[in-house]
Amino acid sequence: MKRSNVSGVRPAALFFSIALTGVAAAASMAVSAADGMAPVRERHALAVKPSNAQIASSDIGRKVDALLKKMTLADKIGQLMQYNDQGSSAPTATDADSAAAMAANPETKDHVDAMALANKGELGSMLNVVGAEKTHAFQQAAVEKSRLHIPILFGADVIHGYRTIYPVPLGLSASWDPALVSDVSHMAAVEATTAGVKWFYSPMVDISRDARWGRSTEGAGEDAYLGSAMARAYIRGYQGDDLSKPDSVAASVKHYAAYGAAEAGREYNTTDMSDIRLRQDYLPPYKAAVEAGTATMMSSFNALNGVPATANPYLMDEILRKEWGFNGFVVSDYTAIMELTHHGIALDAAIATKKALEAGVEVDMMSHYYDTQIPKLLASHKLSMSVVDEAVRRVLRVKFALGLFERPYAQGTEVTQAVDAHRPLARRAAEESFVLLKNGGSNAPVLPLSPQLKTVALIGPLADDAAEMQGAWGGAQHQADVVTLRDGLTARMKKNGGTLLYARGTDTDGDSEAGFAEAQSVAKQADVVVMAVGESSAMSGEAGSRAKLDLPGNQQKLLQEITATGKPVVLLVFSGRPLVLDWAAQHVPAIMAVWFPGTEAGSAVSNVLFGDTVPSGKLTMSFPRVVGQEPLYYNQFPTGRPAGDADLSQPPLGATRFVSRYIDVPNDALFPFGYGLSYTTFGYSGVRVSRSSLPLAEANRSSAKKLISVTATVKNTGSREGTEVAQLYVRNLGTSVEQPVRSLQGFQRVTLKPGESRQLTFELGFPELSFYNNDSQPVIEATHYTVWVGGSSQATDHAEFEVTP
Ligand code: BGC
Repeated sequence: MKRSNVSGVRPAALFFSIALTGVAAAASMAVSAADGMAPVRERHALAVKPSNAQIASSDIGRKVDALLKKMTLADKIGQLMQYNDQGSSAPTATDADSAAAMAANPETKDHVDAMALANKGELGSMLNVVGAEKTHAFQQAAVEKSRLHIPILFGADVIHGYRTIYPVPLGLSASWDPALVSDVSHMAAVEATTAGVKWFYSPMVDISRDARWGRSTEGAGEDAYLGSAMARAYIRGYQGDDLSKPDSVAASVKHYAAYGAAEAGREYNTTDMSDIRLRQDYLPPYKAAVEAGTATMMSSFNALNGVPATANPYLMDEILRKEWGFNGFVVSDYTAIMELTHHGIALDAAIATKKALEAGVEVDMMSHYYDTQIPKLLASHKLSMSVVDEAVRRVLRVKFALGLFERPYAQGTEVTQAVDAHRPLARRAAEESFVLLKNGGSNAPVLPLSPQLKTVALIGPLADDAAEMQGAWGGAQHQADVVTLRDGLTARMKKNGGTLLYARGTDTDGDSEAGFAEAQSVAKQADVVVMAVGESSAMSGEAGSRAKLDLPGNQQKLLQEITATGKPVVLLVFSGRPLVLDWAAQHVPAIMAVWFPGTEAGSAVSNVLFGDTVPSGKLTMSFPRVVGQEPLYYNQFPTGRPAGDADLSQPPLGATRFVSRYIDVPNDALFPFGYGLSYTTFGYSGVRVSRSSLPLAEANRSSAKKLISVTATVKNTGSREGTEVAQLYVRNLGTSVEQPVRSLQGFQRVTLKPGESRQLTFELGFPELSFYNNDSQPVIEATHYTVWVGGSSQATDHAEFEVTP
């Protein structure tokens, strides 16, 4: 099925084109963004008052009930509707099934006049309408012209920055720095609230174990523990300690649930998994976000075990509301209610509406179903008014908690360009996101580059492209704000008294070799070549699934030809996902994953290349050797025939054949989860547990926070100060349900001077040691545990303990 509204214009592009119109029209309001914009305050230290409790407060409850009494049915349904300012979506049928569904639902083709609805008070929220002037016009209609003066909630896809763009979330997660994530997300909230946006469709906390899935770029990678830490960090940054503050925004945690498990990594595809896998590997980040107080959630497009998430009472009601006590509201993903007909679980719009609303999806994003169908369903007694009232209550509670009734309009001076005061934080975020994958191998390191270098060649399609630095949701309209690699390195070489040569070489796709000769000539004149290659930003993100994970176009060929010049090459890989870098790993001396770094791309890259900043990022998704290994993740379940160290150079015969392996490539990742190099080195020793046995009765209490302490010493064994991400992994053997070969249950960032060592302590409690049993209950059993502490998922230093009956 195709959505005509997005077939040519993606939501992100739409968002920013609207913003630009607003900016142009509001030129007289615009001031230099640096003016009046305070540096982002450090938020991570604050105790978060769970907004979930704030939303459910009795004071707000009284206000909502009083308002509800005055509302007509049209007022109520209005609160459940969300449109952009272009009117409704007009889905296009592309196959017979879709055509039949469309015929059954002719209303979807109607155009909706959003301003007319706002005037009548029948538009609860708007999607990707940003810019103080625009939001002001709609808000004025709602709060000054409509009968009940209920403010509109403006939501937008602010995914990795509003005007000052920081790295895509996958890159940001490679920092393993939740405090940083809180700080940058708060920065986005500070900026966006100046344009009237009070609701972000972020964070995306979907676990992604399949690099083919383009939306991997929007999440924190493959691991539930790290994903949960990041989910909490985003909520803290967006919502702060009080939702009603002028610079707080409501988060919308998406895409609930298990969207990242889309089969074959294909966007919008189905998911199917056991309840144990769901709870253990996919749900934890959503749960963590609810515990941190997220105000809203977004339902996902996919079906889970045959029931589309958008009409799934098990997910929405049983787990989200009953088990986790979520008090906010759920918005559907874009036309997801309409798409229930395409899933084949609703023959018409009325059934789709009833199923979604009764399951617990309160707000209809762009389907144009709730407004057309709820009145009919009520009239025919197929839907209870109490379901509608409860949905409206939930939406209003969030609006009151956000302080929208008191402050409906944009706050402060509108930000219309990257904010100078925010650039240092965006730059630090980019620097922390880079993952050094190779640096010389068994030969001498190539990085950091010496300031004495006379000539550096910068080659590649991503070397001088401002738009591409901003990633899938960064928009392209503020390219002038971006420091490209060429800008950053030109300035640096000038400062060093050297020269930067530049050649584009080729495009991110296509097969023209017209630029190869110039690139080779430039390379030959240089002491070192920096190559900026990878994906364009549109190759990941929504609807950005790829079945090939190599460098796209003819970039691999260009890389080979430049490497053949014999000059040392530093390969910078831009991407929204792991790519296949097998050839590069064997032939190129230095490789660094830089994702899409954002506004400060060029400065950050130059700082790291020349060693002002020492790289500290670690991978949060495994990099495969070939695409056929996908889905590939470190915390896999055991098999009865583990491959062990089967030697691939031997024919796969006999004992080496009948094990769980491929006959043509090793099983493991080229670059595993948790891996990343530094300009210094770190060593681990003395991994110990505080006791060797733990009685089951003591362990098996969900409130038990500190059952075992694990200590280990990490030492900077190199000659530079650097930051290491120390990671703790657990394996649990002897359980009633098999457990992963190891799983992350702790991490710490430590900065150490050369020769300095530090003893680290990790506390393991019930959450870290328990697993879900066959009754979907978290338990600890009398079993054997191994814990490893080290610098990647391949850590070797370990200790053991038992839980005794
Ligand atoms: C995406 C969401 C996004 C929404 C609104 C959908 O297509 O899946 O992540 O928030 O559009 O733009």
